[in-house]
Amino acid sequence: MIQLKSEAEIAKMREAGLVVAAALDAVRAAIAPGVTTAELDEIAAKVIADAGARSNFKGYRAGGNIPYPATICASVNDEVVHGIPSRRRVLREGDIISIDCGAIVDGWHADAAFTVGVGEIDPEVQRMIEVCEEALWRGIAAGRAGATLGDIGHAIESYVRSQGRYGMVEEYGGHGIGTEMHQEPHVPNRGRAGRGLRLVPGLVLAVEPMIMLGDRRVVTRDDGWTVATVDGSWAAHFEHTFAVSVDGPRVLTAPDLGVSRLAAARAS
Ligand code: MF3
Ligand code: CO
Repeated sequence: MIQLKSEAEIAKMREAGLVVAAALDAVRAAIAPGVTTAELDEIAAKVIADAGARSNFKGYRAGGNIPYPATICASVNDEVVHGIPSRRRVLREGDIISIDCGAIVDGWHADAAFTVGVGEIDPEVQRMIEVCEEALWRGIAAGRAGATLGDIGHAIESYVRSQGRYGMVEEYGGHGIGTEMHQEPHVPNRGRAGRGLRLVPGLVLAVEPMIMLGDRRVVTRDDGWTVATVDGSWAAHFEHTFAVSVDGPRVLTAPDLGVSRLAAARAS
């Protein structure tokens, strides 16, 4: 079942989105050599608690898996998504890290992620991060009322393929979001233009492209959560929550509702 949201409900999701944006900003500012991913987790948890919101990641259950034990996912280098923060994971100059975070306000969820380098990083890796972020914005820009899910996936996939030989994860993708973090529909990072579910105002989606320098195979580690590349190549991951509306996509997890990046994605 697909849950369509009213304007009042989208306003609640926007509140949750701003909490997520604030948590991610605080974590971004703290990322540096010598910092542990557990410290980053505490920073996000504090921002969410201070805002009077709750974490949707902490205690999250998927299938028979152990409940997710943290507020953020912190995925370093060859880890693609769902890396568990740890006191033993100390960031070093040249690493890259994806931070994924979500929050609930009055029962309404938001979810977003970014990838960034720790200090100075390899230009080829930096380029991959930029391609993944631009793919996210192109996917969101394609999410207009009257377009389809296939248009979003096609925008992401065709852009990534045009930029080089990146691996694209197929096992994971975006999702509907609302009174639960994961709702229908699944939002694939590939697709055919004009195919699939038609997008209507009130639909709220989290889009999350994941790409790597090597081939697209991933494996889940023994901790039950961490998804890493099989070949050890490094990966990038970006995510935003956006609402389909009559006046275009509204990015609930971007402080400016995505206005600046969407204008740039449209102009290119
Ligand atoms: N953004 C991720 C997703 O949609 C994070 C959720 S995983 C969790 O899959 F377990 F940490 F909650
Ligand atoms: Co998500």
